[in-house]
Amino acid sequence: MKRCDTTAAWAALKGHFEAHGRSFDMREAFARDAGRFASLGFEAPEVFADLSKNLLDTATLHFLLDLARECDLEAQRDAMLRGEPVNTTEGRAVLHTALRAPPGVGPHAAEVHAVLDDMLAYADSVRSDWTLTDVVNIGIGGSDLGPQMVVRALDAHAPAGQRLHFVSNIDGHDLQPLLQRLDANKTLFIIASKTFKTQETMANAHAARDWFMSQGGHAIAKHFVATTTNVQAAAEFGITTTFGFWDWVGGRYSLWSAIGLPIAIAVGSENFRALLAGAHAMDRHFAEAPLAKNLPVVLGLLDVWYRNFHGFTSRSVAPYHQGLARLPAYLQQLEMESNGKRVDLSGAPLPFATSPVVWGEPGTNGQHAYFQMLHQGTDVVPVEFIAVKTPGHPWAGQHKMLLANCLAQSQALMLGKTAEQALDETAPTASPDIAPEVLAQHRSFPGNRPSTTFVLQALTPHSVGALIALYEHRVFTSGALWGINSFDQWGVELGKALCNQLLPRLSSGSTEGLDASTAGLLQRLTS
Ligand code: F6P
Repeated sequence: MKRCDTTAAWAALKGHFEAHGRSFDMREAFARDAGRFASLGFEAPEVFADLSKNLLDTATLHFLLDLARECDLEAQRDAMLRGEPVNTTEGRAVLHTALRAPPGVGPHAAEVHAVLDDMLAYADSVRSDWTLTDVVNIGIGGSDLGPQMVVRALDAHAPAGQRLHFVSNIDGHDLQPLLQRLDANKTLFIIASKTFKTQETMANAHAARDWFMSQGGHAIAKHFVATTTNVQAAAEFGITTTFGFWDWVGGRYSLWSAIGLPIAIAVGSENFRALLAGAHAMDRHFAEAPLAKNLPVVLGLLDVWYRNFHGFTSRSVAPYHQGLARLPAYLQQLEMESNGKRVDLSGAPLPFATSPVVWGEPGTNGQHAYFQMLHQGTDVVPVEFIAVKTPGHPWAGQHKMLLANCLAQSQALMLGKTAEQALDETAPTASPDIAPEVLAQHRSFPGNRPSTTFVLQALTPHSVGALIALYEHRVFTSGALWGINSFDQWGVELGKALCNQLLPRLSSGSTEGLDASTAGLLQRLTS
């Protein structure tokens, strides 16, 4: 396996970038090539992706595909899917795909389906238990973001008379306002933690248990359940109902496991199985489609093209569906915790950039906040639009407005507007003190700014499953080419260790041996 920058394809891409990439104008490319939309449109399960409004053409794709081949992307993918320990720094396999395979298929099928069946039967029993009005998931990172995002996306399937809540922050301002609204004997707490050691989750779990007892709550066994790989620690906490999973499921890849319990309660077992089936359909596409037609692969290659050749530092995600409001936050962990790495598998520092910053808000809200910068700022930020054809609400007119906005934004980013065009228009709020030529400069748009648009038929359990799996495999693809370990997260450890060292000082006020800044701040916070 070769790291991307050591390949002949990388050198060829560099040449291609200098000759065609740097100056590529997609408006000219559309004028030249009537088949551009067709040749840069990709079909995958549940997702159509239009890549034609990007700074590349089929020649660029050929170079990128050569890079994938030379980096043995398919062999790397197959090793992961077979269950080889590709997470080398933790000595673990990476098998979230096994969680959504049908019974009898792939590694660990028997144990996966045993827990899944139990978990789903339990979820349905909670869902139909009218004595439970509120379910609170206490977890953070992968034990929060995925389930929270999917519960929101599939809100249409939520049971009547039962509310799902998510508490993640160590900040008591997260838990306290929620507890004030709850009735202890009508509430179920799910303590979700792969390790059952995470500071935030354990602190909130203890606070919730103390509150439960103080409210005259009885039957901890009925009102607290755990989803974890650390069944022993959950038992020590006093929890008797635990749904387990395995160390080969990474935290940010765990919504398909028992960590998905809040999803299963929110949408029911049938829909949870449909979510898994959607993801499995995308897994098969990733495993079987030829590289040139493999959507996660092509998206991962586009990410490499933008990060390493164009030098773009971020990507903005704009889901034009309010149900996907938490998708950008979920993707931040998926992509930045996976690929925010600076050494390769051998520990050597990388001479090229890795994960971009991923950020965004649902459309149209983002348009009225930061889209100004996307259209006229000094940085080029590739944008990813997600359009959903069929709404779940009855207001057809509003949905048309939403879709028109989505299409208009990618069009505006691409087309731009010259100062000459701006000069020909009457500015609605033009000041008499500004020269028309000056104003035209302010009102012009460079255009040629890249975007990808995904189209989904509807937001369903199956399509949401496929969409998330698409993102997972895309992150795998860029990580594999970069030669990094996309499945560890050592970067979060130093802060955790220093926090543990500082914690007693918050009580003692001692600043001995601290750097001057931390000492000064600690003093302000404690004296
Ligand atoms: O601190 C990072 C992290 O380890 C994430 O990778 C993980 O999703 C999160 O913390 C929560 O971990 P756990 O599920 O073990 O509580």
